[in-house]
Amino acid sequence: MYKEPGKTKFQIELRRHLRAQDIPDDLVHLICEIAEACKYVINAVRTGDLGVAGTSNLYGEEQLALDVLSDRIIKKRLIHSGVVCNMVSEEMDEIFHVSDERAGKYSVAYDPLDGSSLVDVNLAVGTIVSIYQGCDLMQEGSRQVAAMYILYGPRVSLVYTVGNGVHEFTMNHLNEFTLTRENVTMKPSGDIYSPGGQRNKYLPGVEKYVQHLEAKGAKLRYSGGFVPDINQVLMKGKGLFMYPMLNGSPNGKLRLLYELNPMAYIVEQAGGAASTGTCRILDIKPESLDQRAPVFIGCSEDVELAKEFLNAQ
Ligand code: F6P
Ligand code: MN
Repeated sequence: MYKEPGKTKFQIELRRHLRAQDIPDDLVHLICEIAEACKYVINAVRTGDLGVAGTSNLYGEEQLALDVLSDRIIKKRLIHSGVVCNMVSEEMDEIFHVSDERAGKYSVAYDPLDGSSLVDVNLAVGTIVSIYQGCDLMQEGSRQVAAMYILYGPRVSLVYTVGNGVHEFTMNHLNEFTLTRENVTMKPSGDIYSPGGQRNKYLPGVEKYVQHLEAKGAKLRYSGGFVPDINQVLMKGKGLFMYPMLNGSPNGKLRLLYELNPMAYIVEQAGGAASTGTCRILDIKPESLDQRAPVFIGCSEDVELAKEFLNAQ
């Protein structure tokens, strides 16, 4: 953080920042518990076993030992937080029920280690979290009361929203998350694009949109990790990430509950937009835990233009 000459450096810690928001103490507690759990996830990422777990998840993807361990770390912390009713993660087959009590409780959907297959090549990965009040996890994303992600890169950062802007924290030498950017905002349009999916499977409208981006000189920035790729667009305040519908995969790849809803909430809170190409991500009523959707997410005018290209195809 910027230090004015002659003044003492003052770091705002995550809990203190959350307390200044108009949210219940239980939600402050929950977000801090998740942040704490992620400190153990980082440790696992940095030093843990890179092998496979010998199991597969709901999507038929091979689970890595790190996926299973990260899931276990967060799950345990959520169970013991005392404020969770239901939880579900990208690595679970069904909702895990913690408590029958509704009052003052929250439900959490999370992706414990997004991009885990990138750890062996030492690229950035992350944890993504979506929080609802009460016990219902099958609600539209617009009903989230909080969303956050933790990015494990050269530095560890945590970005959260509780519906009052988007705020970034970075882990300091004491392993505390301190405020580095408050009220992150995105420009209406930008010159970065981060395109997922094989291009030879793009629909004509998506192909024409990409050609348009290339013609205007947009820079390609795609690491294959959703968290770092979104973080780049969000923090630079410009551009768009997409994982579109593909020939043979009409719903793209990314998962509504664990990946798209939390990121859509964060990006909208920063002044951006997130759409399937026809519908706002946050308006989708989930029908199943493993639901996927195509996504165009980032600067609002860039998302709007993607929709126009799709409409015109
Ligand atoms: O969890 C899905 C994920 O790993 C995201 O992190 C990432 O955006 C996407 O898949 C990458 O997919 P692909 O390998 O098809 O580019
Ligand atoms: Mn994922």
